[in-house]
Amino acid sequence: MIVEEVTEAGPEVVAAFQRLVPQLSRSSPPPTGAELAEMVAAPTTTVLVARNGSGDIVGTLTLVVFRIPTGLRAWIEDVVVDAAARGSGVGSALTRAAIAHATEAGARSLDLTSRPSREEANRLYRRLGFRQRDTNVWRFEVRT
Ligand SMILES: CC(C)(COP(=O)(O)OP(=O)(O)OC[C@H]1O[C@@H](n2cnc3c(N)ncnc32)[C@H](O)[C@@H]1OP(=O)(O)O)[C@@H](O)C(=O)NCCC(=O)NCCS
Repeated sequence: MIVEEVTEAGPEVVAAFQRLVPQLSRSSPPPTGAELAEMVAAPTTTVLVARNGSGDIVGTLTLVVFRIPTGLRAWIEDVVVDAAARGSGVGSALTRAAIAHATEAGARSLDLTSRPSREEANRLYRRLGFRQRDTNVWRFEVRT
């Protein structure tokens, strides 16, 4: 299995997101090719994919690195591994690659959120060294 950065939002990548995003969210449609192209072109955004031994895309993670007044920070979003490929280290490999990329970029912290009901995900992040912060997570819904 390898983890690589997406550099072109071609049909294979679009199809992979169509397969993977419904396994992460029931309410969010998969990104269109144009939306993926926008993500890939954005200097702050790194879209990672994991490929199995046959070269098929079996997981993805998106990392955003951005500067704010308190320093260079990073967020991990939309981590998902194909149900058939779980439990063999794909999620860990994607997260480790994101940590390496954020570290290399000079980020001073790497944040993410994960609902308590996502037990596998929370175990994974804890295992890789993430520590739970005592803070409130807030959202303003712009669209219903
Ligand atoms: C959370 C998620 C990304 C984890 O992906 P994954 O590829 O299964 O993650 P890993 O394989 O690295 O780790 C999962 C388990 O497999 C184990 N594992 C890892 N490599 C292994 C191997 N080679 N052999 C056997 N087990 C292994 C890990 O120890 C871990 O065990 P645990 O469940 O007891 O903690 C995946 O379950 C998923 O996509 N879930 C739905 C979407 C989701 O919740 N996303 C996170 C949003 S915050």
